[in-house]
Amino acid sequence: MNITVIGTGYVGLVSGVCFSEIGNNVICVDNNPDKVALLREGNVPIYEPGLKELMNANMKAGRLSFTEEIGEAINRSDIIIIAVGTPSLPNGEANLSYVELVAKQIGSHIDSYKIIMTKSTVPVGTNDRIQEWISSLTQHPFDMASVPEFLREGTAVKDTLYPDRIVIGTASERAVATLKELHQPLTDQIITTDIRSAEMIKYASNAFLATKISFINEISNICEKVGADVSRVAEGMGYDKRIGSSFLKAGIGYGGSCFPKDTQALIQIAGNVDYDFKLLKSVVEVNKDQRFNVIRKLEEALDVLDGKPIAVWGLAFKPDTDDVRDAPAIEIIQRLLDQGATVKAYDPIATENFRKEVDSPAITWASSAMEAARDAHALCVLTEWKEFMEVDLAELAAHMDQPILIDGRNIYEEDQIKDTPFQYYSVGRPGLTNIDGRKPAVL
Ligand code: UDX
Repeated sequence: MNITVIGTGYVGLVSGVCFSEIGNNVICVDNNPDKVALLREGNVPIYEPGLKELMNANMKAGRLSFTEEIGEAINRSDIIIIAVGTPSLPNGEANLSYVELVAKQIGSHIDSYKIIMTKSTVPVGTNDRIQEWISSLTQHPFDMASVPEFLREGTAVKDTLYPDRIVIGTASERAVATLKELHQPLTDQIITTDIRSAEMIKYASNAFLATKISFINEISNICEKVGADVSRVAEGMGYDKRIGSSFLKAGIGYGGSCFPKDTQALIQIAGNVDYDFKLLKSVVEVNKDQRFNVIRKLEEALDVLDGKPIAVWGLAFKPDTDDVRDAPAIEIIQRLLDQGATVKAYDPIATENFRKEVDSPAITWASSAMEAARDAHALCVLTEWKEFMEVDLAELAAHMDQPILIDGRNIYEEDQIKDTPFQYYSVGRPGLTNIDGRKPAVL
């Protein structure tokens, strides 16, 4: 099939590359000339394992190209995929201005029947508006479809080539048939539904996953007080098929480009129809506060933070990405600076992006984990990068001024910690906290 993908962000680029990989001719459009030039040279502006290799292979095979010329790309394609960003407005609502602009460009260039497939996450009812924006500018026939994207950063290629399911929301039988054929090589699990339900499936899925995370984080906070181990609790819960084991890792809360934005947007969508989504509001509140447990534990260990050098390992919102959007590390480091601490930060790949969010003469950007830890009065692990799990903890302790370890992601196990001098604080595993006076409450 001939496909145009508009927008070469995470969703657009990965979708474009993967659709070409399964044999389609794909043109990716972006209005940023520098980005198009970079892509044409075979470079990827984001860090995503496997993407660059796959992109170059498909460019070489002649199935994948990049352009700024939206009109020509539309004319040469049967399916147009909208994959532009929908960032949050200050009130939490999704900003649809890029989507509107693209819809109007499609309306003015469309010259024959097309399927317009939306992959951008848009509030319920937006595809109907897109239809109106396009229709207001053309007499040519087209069908709208909402096909939400569920890829995760760091595993985006795998998630796209081997999805759990594909959701196709459209009122057109013709579009259902074509889009089923397009997605058949990826999975047999194809759900067809109406447009509004497809739009809602995306928000409801992300909100549910965010709810699981905030739920287990609250359980971890209680575990710390009653002397239970949250990782064993999550394991025990996860064997129940109705619950499932994924997204039950307690930590410092979720970040990234999707969960914070989509939960806010769904609260807003509900609010617009006079529905108070109380549960999701609490999920967001819990998430906002969970990150500051790191500060509370530091204060418990060090009393005052003023003037103390604190090491931070991990700046990205999760491992295997250089993305720092809504990363909990941003607010944690800001709070450390506010309290007068100096910070020695290290991340394998996200430092450059992070410095655009937070920079200060009080932060030293280390080029290795050990360098960050040297002479620090405490170390906070904020992202579960594999290299942090593999460090020699005895050597690490020797590098530090005080062996205090705040493990925000539970990356170390009891047998790694027990023979080290570390004062170890985990998330919801108080039995591992070898600190006098921090014993669980006696029930
Ligand atoms: C998410 C969704 O998983 C994906 O389907 C959607 O398309 C986009 O949003 P992503 O943001 O890339 O993907 O990352 P994900 O792996 O889902 O993690 C999100 C955040 O939740 C991270 O900050 C991660 O650290 C946190 N998380 C995840 C937990 O704290 N505990 C968990 O058990 C799982």
